[in-house]
Amino acid sequence: MHCRGPSAKRVAEPKEHGVHRLMNSAPLCHVAGVGHCLPNQPISNAALIERYGLASTPEWIESRTGIQQRYFVEAGQTTATLATAAAQHALTQAHLSPMAIGAVLVATCTPDYTFPSVATLVQAALGVPAGTVALDVNAACSGFIAALSMTQGLFATRPALQHILVIGAETFSNVLDFTDRSTCVLFGDGAGAVVLTRNQPGETRGLLVVEQGADGTQAPLLHSGHGVARGGIAGTVQMQGAAVFKHAVRQMGDRAATAALLAQSGYTLAGLDWLVPHQANARILEAAAEALQIPPYKVITTVGQHANTSAASIPLALSHAQQQGQLKAGQLLLLQAFGAGFTWGMASLIW
Ligand code: UT7
Repeated sequence: MHCRGPSAKRVAEPKEHGVHRLMNSAPLCHVAGVGHCLPNQPISNAALIERYGLASTPEWIESRTGIQQRYFVEAGQTTATLATAAAQHALTQAHLSPMAIGAVLVATCTPDYTFPSVATLVQAALGVPAGTVALDVNAACSGFIAALSMTQGLFATRPALQHILVIGAETFSNVLDFTDRSTCVLFGDGAGAVVLTRNQPGETRGLLVVEQGADGTQAPLLHSGHGVARGGIAGTVQMQGAAVFKHAVRQMGDRAATAALLAQSGYTLAGLDWLVPHQANARILEAAAEALQIPPYKVITTVGQHANTSAASIPLALSHAQQQGQLKAGQLLLLQAFGAGFTWGMASLIW
């Protein structure tokens, strides 16, 4: 056996991050590489307003959301091309060939095709061997956490599996109504990817605990309006922004649930080095962090540069933070997402 599963014995370990750590399971895998891909040119708030003749101002957008710019795909770019490029960067950083990859999971709700999945397109484009697992995960903005959760099952049940590509990729510009100023200013396109590598015995870094939840009764507050079985192919974003905002802050700012997940991971909130939330609105991030009593300097915030890239926002933020030199080996990260469904999720991780 290369690793211990979730039922491993609780063992008291030395003090780390200023807290007494109770180890209830060794992480099955760690992040061996991270990468991202954004379309070529950023579009400023002013440029967006001018391009679509919006009744808005750059000041309104920035002050209400923190967003300064976003990226939209250009001709020839798709969710799969962004995902492939992000994955290539992650593989390079991990010093791995695509031949080493045993599964490709792509979190997206803006796929190239209704079928086949983006994951199979990425598998083919990269040259990941036939016979590997390749599938898409749709949990809207929480998709990356959902995909991370699936890696635990894959590593636990497939002893030969050594490396998994987990990608968040979206082209939300394809599902925006550019006559609706309250939604079209919020979203952008992009992709982020991580390579997860199976831990060696005794390795303590990596993915600790992942949790997810959903409440389908809230679907009417944020949805695409149409779909394959609903009179159209994709539809456009329909959102009751203020209501979604409140739910997002309540869910992402749930101190008891967050502390419980960290306790299960063997840590406390005080031991957290970085909160890496889904990037929807800077005001949501600030309000949630305040409710969690996490100081702003511990919150990775990229919504200003990327806008809301849905399932791509967390891996994009990770890749960006790593490029900035913010993430250091051994640090404790909490990834946190909330999105349409509603869906939500959290994951604790030692970098
Ligand atoms: O990924 C998870 C999903 N999404 C989110 O988490 C987004 C959640 N919601 C939000 O981020 C915010 O609710 C918004 C940014 C969408 C809106 O901000 P708000 O502070 O909640 O504004 P509001 O919806 O209460 O609207 C205030 C006013 C309205 O005008 P009236 O009715 O007061 O005259 C809106 O029509 O702001 C108006 N407005 C705008 N004005 C200029 C809405 N969008 C714009 C705009 N430019 N782009």
